[in-house]
Amino acid sequence: MNFRTIIEPFRIKSVEPLAFTTREQRQAALEAAGHNVFLLHASDVLIDLLTDSGTGAMSSAQWGALMQGDESYAGSRSFYRFEQVVRDLTGYRHVIPTHQGRAAERILFHTILVPGDVVPNNNHFDTTRANIEVEDAEARDLVIPEGRVPSLIHPFKGNIDLEALERTLEHDGGRVPLVMVTVTNNSGGGQPVSMENLRGVRRLCDRYGKPFFLDACRFAENAWFIRQREPGYGEHTPRDIAREMFGLADGCTMSAKKDGLANIGGFLALNNDEWAERARNLLILTEGFPTYGGLAGYDLEAIATGLEEVVEEAYLRYRIRSTEYFADKLVSAGVPIIQPAGGHAIYIDARSLLPHIPPLEYPGIALVNALYVEAGIRSVEIGTVMFGRQHDGTEVPPAMDLVRLAIPRRVYTQSHIDYAAEAVIHVASQKDRLRGYRMTYGPAVLRHFTSRFEPR
Ligand code: F0G
Repeated sequence: MNFRTIIEPFRIKSVEPLAFTTREQRQAALEAAGHNVFLLHASDVLIDLLTDSGTGAMSSAQWGALMQGDESYAGSRSFYRFEQVVRDLTGYRHVIPTHQGRAAERILFHTILVPGDVVPNNNHFDTTRANIEVEDAEARDLVIPEGRVPSLIHPFKGNIDLEALERTLEHDGGRVPLVMVTVTNNSGGGQPVSMENLRGVRRLCDRYGKPFFLDACRFAENAWFIRQREPGYGEHTPRDIAREMFGLADGCTMSAKKDGLANIGGFLALNNDEWAERARNLLILTEGFPTYGGLAGYDLEAIATGLEEVVEEAYLRYRIRSTEYFADKLVSAGVPIIQPAGGHAIYIDARSLLPHIPPLEYPGIALVNALYVEAGIRSVEIGTVMFGRQHDGTEVPPAMDLVRLAIPRRVYTQSHIDYAAEAVIHVASQKDRLRGYRMTYGPAVLRHFTSRFEPR
């Protein structure tokens, strides 16, 4: 018999109770938090879909590996195991541990950028962009045009526009120290990049003599999409596909809080000896000695085991299906989301769901807050609050007002997803009752974390 049901490929050994609250309690908690869900106490949240980063469940093998952690300051056994696992997966010569992804970005960009440089990418994640801009360099987003249209179906909406990349290399090549591609493309909806596209980037980088780096946070999810959607890869293992992806690049930055299946950690891995030496010297300044880079020995063990587990077929089949399952329910109910579903999250198009709330009254915040009050679900606005403030203090709405529901790895079961879908559909059915918000406090940078609002 060919079973159609894709089950969670684990059973549960340790459980953590969920906190049920009443609608009144949530209303009060949200008011106390200035109507900003970042300021809630997590214990007041029932299902937390704020991020998939560092929020996953470790396996019993990972918890067991923690006890194997060697906490030696220098040359720890856990480092050599971690280095070996990363090398086997990526093929890169130098493996530099960091406390999370943005530390790898900071060290890479501070090592290689000079003011006026340009870094092309499909879409930079916000910390990547910030770590480039802080060096007075430009982060240039070159995703394909299809990647900018939420409702448009395309198998690899994360692809970089190769013609636009070639134009950048042709006109600004002297200012481009490296080309980056983010797999999967988080800021573009968790959309995958095809192997063919990565090969195209490699060819252009060879022609113009540029190094090519991956932002590899969700490399395994990307590998699974290649296996499912790209001709010729259906029989390849996710691990082989991932190795081929890494093999086309010269290095990567990685947040182990995503596809490292760990709660903290990251790394920079690369082939260039000179860059690696400079990066290690910077690492010592801010993160720690090169064999631990801001992590405990037990963290290195957890990540090493996580990187082995994340490419298992049963895991990836379940992971990608569970996001798609959530998306299918919302699409059938007519809720506008980015399609097809990405790997780690659902992105609701709040601007088109709530046309009666103008962008400067924050339709994304209205939806996020309604989901919390109605159902105890925490999501995140990716729109005017996150990106709308200009350097001169004015506000300009970005291209989209999205609400992201990110799915932590191995944490929630199908019934939690059913509940979340029911909640979104319920709130969408009441959409005419939702009102916009006014910002009562907002800092100049990264304002989504701490700003406060009041309902209009
Ligand atoms: N690159 C991408 C594509 C990311 O999604 C993230 C983090 C980072 C780099 C930075 O990694 O958090 O370990 O420093 N994304 C999280 C999110 C925060 O919610 O999407 P980090």
